[in-house]
Amino acid sequence: MLLLRWITAAGLLGVAFASPEGELVKKSTVSDILSDIENAFTCGACEALLGVLQGLAHLGNDAFVDVITDVCVLASVEDKDVCEGAISREGPILAHDLRNMHIPSKTATLFCSTVFGLCDSPDVTEHTVEFPSAKPSNASRPSPSGETPIQVVHISDIHVDLSYETGANYNCTKNICCRPYTESDAPGNTSFPAGGYGNSNCDSPLTLEESMYGAIEHLVPDASFTIFTGDVVEGAVWLVNETEVTNDLNDAYKTRMPSYLNKVYGVVGNHDAAPVNSFPPAAIDTTIDSQWVYDTLSSGWSQWIGSEAATTADNYGSYSVKHPGSNLRIISFNTNFYYKENFWLYEETMETDPNSQLRWLVTELSAAEAAGERVWLLGHMPMGSGDAFHDGSNYFNQIIQRYDATIAAAFYGHTHKDEFEISYSNYTDQNANTATMMSYIAPALTPTSGNPTFRVYSVDPVTFGILDFTVYIANMSNPAYQSNPKWEKYYSAKEAYGSLVEPAITDSAAELTPAFWHNITAVFEKEDSVFQDYIARKTRGWKVELCSGDCKTEEICQLRAAESQYNCVTISPGINFKKRDTTSTAKHQESACGQSTITAVFADFQRSVSALKSSALTKLGSDFLDKTANTTSS
Ligand SMILES: *[C@@H]1O[C@H](CO)[C@@H](O)[C@H](O)[C@H]1NC(C)=O
Ligand SMILES: *[C@@H]1O[C@H](CO)[C@@H](O)[C@H](O)[C@H]1NC(C)=O
Ligand SMILES: *[C@@H]1O[C@H](CO)[C@@H](O)[C@H](O)[C@H]1NC(C)=O
Ligand SMILES: *[C@@H]1O[C@H](CO)[C@@H](O)[C@H](O)[C@H]1NC(C)=O
Ligand SMILES: *[C@@H]1O[C@H](CO)[C@@H](O)[C@H](O)[C@H]1NC(C)=O
Ligand SMILES: *[C@@H]1O[C@H](CO)[C@@H](O)[C@H](O)[C@H]1NC(C)=O
Ligand SMILES: *[C@@H]1O[C@H](CO)[C@@H](O)[C@H](O)[C@H]1NC(C)=O
Ligand SMILES: *[C@@H]1O[C@H](CO)[C@@H](O)[C@H](O)[C@H]1NC(C)=O
Repeated sequence: MLLLRWITAAGLLGVAFASPEGELVKKSTVSDILSDIENAFTCGACEALLGVLQGLAHLGNDAFVDVITDVCVLASVEDKDVCEGAISREGPILAHDLRNMHIPSKTATLFCSTVFGLCDSPDVTEHTVEFPSAKPSNASRPSPSGETPIQVVHISDIHVDLSYETGANYNCTKNICCRPYTESDAPGNTSFPAGGYGNSNCDSPLTLEESMYGAIEHLVPDASFTIFTGDVVEGAVWLVNETEVTNDLNDAYKTRMPSYLNKVYGVVGNHDAAPVNSFPPAAIDTTIDSQWVYDTLSSGWSQWIGSEAATTADNYGSYSVKHPGSNLRIISFNTNFYYKENFWLYEETMETDPNSQLRWLVTELSAAEAAGERVWLLGHMPMGSGDAFHDGSNYFNQIIQRYDATIAAAFYGHTHKDEFEISYSNYTDQNANTATMMSYIAPALTPTSGNPTFRVYSVDPVTFGILDFTVYIANMSNPAYQSNPKWEKYYSAKEAYGSLVEPAITDSAAELTPAFWHNITAVFEKEDSVFQDYIARKTRGWKVELCSGDCKTEEICQLRAAESQYNCVTISPGINFKKRDTTSTAKHQESACGQSTITAVFADFQRSVSALKSSALTKLGSDFLDKTANTTSS
């Protein structure tokens, strides 16, 4: 009860914990703490819970996994097999974080922000990225050349499920279905049989993957090359292991893509590992490394990027290569080092530049600038999204601003939605003149977030500026879809938006510049029907909902933020549940790409704390509950 009185006295537990008076409650038993914080939805309560979880982590990975799995089952977060599989995979990483964590600290606050939604994102720790030379005073984006454009295909988030079975239950209790998880889910035993080409409750069957590549071959026969912004592996994260991921990556990169596409530049996605999202930076001492992922990717990609770049990719999934016969340099980098669900990053002390990847980017961009090359940056997670750490995103943005005349554009996936992000040289003064870079975010093949889709860019062959893009979809609501998906043009950016700005941008040789896209967001503000059309396109016309009020304000804010601290994403308790549908059969709804099961376990704080109390008692007995927990920093 001591803590509760404290809440009233100090107003906020968080304040109390962070202040020197925190010593007053230096020690308290696990049992007391859990009782006291059950109803306290504060950042301080979260930090108190971290003290308890740290005690649990000190008992070892097995005890930690055992108790948290029980919490997951007791709180009915997921089916028992999902809880067991997911937490046995993710648990040891979180236990590793917790054992080394100082509480309170910025790391603890970030952890509470991501896992519990109870702390606001901490302020960015200032860091000035070093550049070998200052930006040339005459640096500017080149004007369009007017030469005949080339076509480049952009595919993303294929999430191919090689265990998909036609006829298996598509209406199961897990986040992806269409697999015979139980006898009653098996083909012939279910009244919800999956069709041959996929279902919105399931990741892509192989048939759908091949159907898309076939459509690309047919619809874009002259494509110069393809960019693929990651996530090959399906979303049954509680079953995914090294054997499956290796097999999935090899199937996509060595078998399917080469049969249809002439050249593919790939990136590493957060799902392309086991456990999911597990990309430990080199500085971390662990036996759970992901070198095998990089080995597999490197050997799959070498056919397209050559052995030299493949050797670089083998370091941590990133590479830089000149596209043959052109002035374009492709730089593919690993965004998992800034991804909040990569729990290896919550280490004392959090690194400013994991694996020195940002330093490597600066070296590559500096050389490209000196050589007068044009650059495309490819990554998986958009660096302005709510999934990106504010610190890493801020440092990355400094690099974007320095080399904005050399980088033609950046390309991402991960969100599964058709969208974009604009970078500004000054985020407190956003206008067409301060808009400096475009992030093109391609929607997914997997049907879990809308109709299966791919994009084709029309590209200036000299400046490599984006002149237009056309989106193709296969409409799942079409009655013929399950026998033979028909891929057709959905819309073109220039056709949809070009005439809405002043002066109109309709010439096929004109670039869609950052200023153009800024002006389009201004049109969204003024003309609501244009904005609602954009919203419908995000999911390719699938389950479209009106977006107005805060939804609209936040959406436009995100479009204008390629640096994550400016994206207006607010942190609130249970934020992770909002990503699912809380009103109906929640589990069929889309879960955020790569969201860990542990964050789902703790999304409902009260329920999880109360389940933790009973699980700890059952599994560890009163010895643990009577223990003194570390609730303040030592
Ligand atoms: C408290 O922290 C110390 C030092 O980090 C650690 O050795 C000890 O095991 C912790 N106690 C608990 C209950 O977590
Ligand atoms: C900028 O000036 C330098 C030195 O005068 C010149 O070599 C370079 O081509 C110029 N760059 C641009 C983009 O005009
Ligand atoms: C899924 O099954 C439930 C009953 O278990 C039923 O109410 C619901 O309509 C089914 N959903 C679909 C999309 O068929
Ligand atoms: C269908 O269910 C029956 C009885 O429940 C079971 O014997 C059979 O193995 C199931 N079929 C499959 C393919 O699992
Ligand atoms: C990996 O998962 C597959 C499919 O679930 C399973 O058959 C296989 O035994 C697992 N391999 C290992 C090494 O755990
Ligand atoms: C950014 O814009 C604000 C508002 O116009 C202005 O006060 C500030 O000086 C600008 N910052 C820089 C670095 O130009
Ligand atoms: C953007 O809008 C401004 C006026 O607000 C206009 O001066 C500028 O030419 C427009 N630029 C583009 C590329 O649409
Ligand atoms: C998909 O097909 C359905 C049924 O024919 C139709 O109502 C819908 O408008 C189509 N969606 C798109 C994006 O074309």
